[in-house]
Amino acid sequence: MAHASSYKPNSAIAKWFDVRLPVMRMMHDQLQVYPTPRNLNYLWTFGGILTFFLAVQLITGIVLAMHYVPHESMAFDSVEHIMRDVNWGWLLRYMHANGASMFFLAVYIHIARGMYYGSYKAPREILWILGVFIFLAMMATSFMGYSLVWGQMSFWAVTVITNLFSSLDAIISGLGTAIVQWIWGGFAVGNPTLNRLYSLHYLLPFVIAGLVLLHIWALHVPGNNNPTGIDVKLKSDTIPFHPYYTLKDGFALSVFVILFMGFVFYAPNYLGHPDNYIAANPLQTPPHIVPEWYFLPYYAILRAIPDKLIGVIALFASIGLLAFLPWLDTSKVKSARYRPVYKWFFALFVIDTIILGYLGAKTPEGWYLLLGRICTAYYFLHLLVVLPLVGLLEKPTAMPGSITDDVLGKGSPTGRPARAAASPERR
Ligand code: HEM
Repeated sequence: MAHASSYKPNSAIAKWFDVRLPVMRMMHDQLQVYPTPRNLNYLWTFGGILTFFLAVQLITGIVLAMHYVPHESMAFDSVEHIMRDVNWGWLLRYMHANGASMFFLAVYIHIARGMYYGSYKAPREILWILGVFIFLAMMATSFMGYSLVWGQMSFWAVTVITNLFSSLDAIISGLGTAIVQWIWGGFAVGNPTLNRLYSLHYLLPFVIAGLVLLHIWALHVPGNNNPTGIDVKLKSDTIPFHPYYTLKDGFALSVFVILFMGFVFYAPNYLGHPDNYIAANPLQTPPHIVPEWYFLPYYAILRAIPDKLIGVIALFASIGLLAFLPWLDTSKVKSARYRPVYKWFFALFVIDTIILGYLGAKTPEGWYLLLGRICTAYYFLHLLVVLPLVGLLEKPTAMPGSITDDVLGKGSPTGRPARAAASPERR
């Protein structure tokens, strides 16, 4: 939240620095005294958890890149070399692979939190849209990273996904094929493809880091939303970020890291596919090509639609539509806590997405296909019809007068509306 700076440099050198590059002032104002709503629950700790995992991915990735060889005849073996010969190489690789999964788990919780509490609504639209860009960049990065192993699943996933662009042939004959061959750097997935995937996989995490800085900047202008969705009105509605939320975030992060370490040390390949331990073979297609778990709902949407071009459009629309949530949701009330009807539709949307994820791993035939189509239909129905209509028709329940009222109850010493009105502690 934009607030007057309370930073006081406490040494001559700090003063000298502050006049030239007030970075300590910025850290003090934005990370220490930053006024944060006092009622944030544990779902608000996932932004910090995500920042931590971005750092984990960057550090482990940079060290892995020192040993990895981006060549079609050496890539797979270089990964095995990392696993067997490089000191702590197995730990680096397992942290990087499982770190990607933890990153996605955290981002899905972070997005769902935003959808439940209406954090995308004014004045946080830019913050939300930056989030959607981050999400897209994360998807591209993890897809490219997975391909680098150059195992059977990597190779065939690249083949399937790059081939999606060939659907453009249905609009202009030859256009899709030209784009696919341009992406491949040849007439099939091969060494030039691997090289460009490697180059972009190294680049994109830094783009994500830049987007995250903008994301946090866009957060600190209006300040955090909170579980009531009510704006900060009183001084007593907020507490300083440090030590209250540094401690809460630190505790949540520690618990999440235990889960992460559980995977790394006890089930490092549980979330992966065994076929990726077979070197890429362009002459043999695996019986089932499945993406990593975090792509499964979108894969189910793609396969639910019989027409390739429409399937690809639906795939991109399923993510792109999220950017329009601030305008698709017509409700005046932000938090689903006070939205008795939307609450249930939101739960249905989450269940729908989980079922799509389950179906993404199954062969699209029989009742799996039918259910996939029903769930795909609901996914779009929810975003395009339910969200605008429920917002207009639903009658919200009674809301507390302020954040303080919500925490301390009406009539509490600091939350009493009468007192607030008599001597307004307005910010
Ligand atoms: C690398 C990925 C990401 C990082 C590191 C990140 C980081 C953060 C941080 C540190 C916060 C403040 C703490 C919190 O509210 O949890 C935050 C808030 C927020 N993020 Fe993200 N984020 C990421 C991805 C996303 C995505 C994909 C979306 C949505 C599509 C999103 C939407 C939001 C929103 C709406 C808020 C404001 C929440 C509120 O004030 O209630 N973020 N993010």
